[in-house]
Amino acid sequence: MEVTREKVLEALGNVVEPDLKKDIISQNLVENLAIEGNVISLTVNVVNPALHARKRMQEAVNFALKRVLGDQVEVSTTVVGLPVEAKSARRKILPEVKHIVAIASGKGGVGKSTITANLAGGLAKAGYKVGIVDADIYGPSMPTMFDIVGERPQTIEVDGERKMTPVLSYGIGIMSIGFFTEADNAIVWRGPMASKALTQMFTDTHWGKLDYLLIDLPPGTGDIHLSLVQTVPLDGAVIVSTPQEVALADARKGVNMFKLDNIKVPVLGLVENMAWFTPLELPENKYYIFGRDGVKNLAEGMGETFLGHIPLVQSVRESGDIGRPAVYQENTPISAAFDELVRKFVSEVDRKKK
Ligand SMILES: Nc1ncnc2c1ncn2[C@@H]1O[C@H](COP(=O)(O)OP(=O)(O)OP(=O)(O)O)[C@@H](O)[C@H]1O
Ligand SMILES: [Mg+2]
Repeated sequence: MEVTREKVLEALGNVVEPDLKKDIISQNLVENLAIEGNVISLTVNVVNPALHARKRMQEAVNFALKRVLGDQVEVSTTVVGLPVEAKSARRKILPEVKHIVAIASGKGGVGKSTITANLAGGLAKAGYKVGIVDADIYGPSMPTMFDIVGERPQTIEVDGERKMTPVLSYGIGIMSIGFFTEADNAIVWRGPMASKALTQMFTDTHWGKLDYLLIDLPPGTGDIHLSLVQTVPLDGAVIVSTPQEVALADARKGVNMFKLDNIKVPVLGLVENMAWFTPLELPENKYYIFGRDGVKNLAEGMGETFLGHIPLVQSVRESGDIGRPAVYQENTPISAAFDELVRKFVSEVDRKKK
């Protein structure tokens, strides 16, 4: 059979991109198609650039072409990962959300939720549209940190489908696993149920247009993290740690988890929380109670970006407890530190998207 462009395209129309669940022709994933006699060469873009996924695509293309055109064709397929920008443009899930970023740590209690709340607040202050998914099934914090304990998302109908609307606080849309449990029962969320609830906070929620959707993760590198990266294509992850040795070891694990071949989420950078203690009555003093610059050094050692220091000050904890993130304080050193963190964060998101 003569190898024509038409036949080749027809054959490739049977090859499905596993993440987009649509064929590679309708999704415009084929480039550089060249046909010379029996030799067909092409480049295919895929969402997951992991080695095994690229290999599988190569085999699928080979199989599809030979089935339609016969065994005599020679196929040379280059498979490459879609550029990150194109990935979010093609994202089926939450296409109106520009950047989806997870806030993670290895160790618990290092300040992920505090950093998430203040990043969100700082971004909103700077004029961005922001949402938060509180994915911490063990101890959801966002309802407390934004003073919306006991609230429930409303249900609305969008294009004939029932969706939940995030609860608003300071103009930030918030979904929390805490809205669906009684305060003391968070522990009932286990395994598949937790994954399902997590997925629904993305798929069954009407987020509308957002610049940033931040995800506050539970501590560690467990199942929830994996199910999250399978549900939403993250544009990046921020790792929070204190400068303490035990926290750093876990932060390193966190960084490495996002860099795994089958996860491949860009690490935007590391934040050093509780970098030093400053008492209210001695605002010039710095006490390095968890050690000094541990996270900064870890970031540099791993070739990752250092996003900044956040000191340990009582008002950060108090602000969290009363539900008004510290970034909303007026002209305090701590609100300035968070504003600076936000600037660095925004520039890193833009840089890593290029
Ligand atoms: N820079 C800071 N200054 C003062 N207190 C802080 C600071 N960062 C966090 N805290 C306090 O430390 C406690 C733990 O912080 P947070 O809940 O943000 O950590 P987490 O990493 O989200 O914890 P978990 O692993 O349980 O989710 C909270 O009471 C919080 O208010
Ligand atoms: Mg937390």
